[in-house]
Amino acid sequence: MFYTTDTNHHGLPHDPFKAIVTPRPIGWISTRSRDGSVNLAPYSFFNAIADNPKLVLFSSSGMKDSASFAIESGEFVANLATDALAEAVNRTSAPAPRGTSEFAIAGLTEAPCHLVAAPRILESPAALECKVVGHFTPNGIDGRPADAVVVIGQVVGIHISEAILRDGLVDMELARPLSRLGYLDYAVTSDVFAMRRPRQADGGDAPPRG
Ligand SMILES: Cc1cc2nc3c(=O)[nH]c(=O)nc-3n(C[C@H](O)[C@H](O)[C@H](O)COP(=O)(O)O)c2cc1C
Repeated sequence: MFYTTDTNHHGLPHDPFKAIVTPRPIGWISTRSRDGSVNLAPYSFFNAIADNPKLVLFSSSGMKDSASFAIESGEFVANLATDALAEAVNRTSAPAPRGTSEFAIAGLTEAPCHLVAAPRILESPAALECKVVGHFTPNGIDGRPADAVVVIGQVVGIHISEAILRDGLVDMELARPLSRLGYLDYAVTSDVFAMRRPRQADGGDAPPRG
């Protein structure tokens, strides 16, 4: 099948778009507003986009609290969502009035960060402390602004629990990171295989980038 997205007439029971861009990592974003309110919510429009410096982004469909707190404070934390915390991830997606912390709603514990004022999630086995380096609303091809606020953060500090390290590597069987599929579906990463990257065809021995 093929369909164009200007009409979005796919004839399927649900829009398949997000089931194709999958699995998506979940950035479990904690923030603190300038007036001290704490916020926590999951974002699957989330990814790493550079590793020198280390940059991550999340995209908010409309200006939600996570984006507005991150932009006004200049900081956010991306906590790792895991299988063991799946129910809590879901609970923190409930709309809560500004000033109500989703940590309390989901029974999670705020742990202090080293370099940002936002708390991280004590129960999450890894967290990226981030300083905001930019935010923007992209335009569609018709020039009209998308219903999206993209927030980019530079990772300035990284927490890793010993519980997910094996032989010095973050071990997927131990971490069991949660990702978002299409529809109402989620997946857990645990079945991992490795492949060595090919060398350059011209015989150069520079390792492949990215
Ligand atoms: C797994 C998961 C992923 C989500 N990803 C996004 C996302 O990428 N962008 C978005 O705007 N909302 C996303 N949501 C919905 C937000 O988490 C939800 O609207 C939340 O209430 C936003 O909270 P905030 O206003 O405190 O930031 C997601 C929800 C879940 C459960």
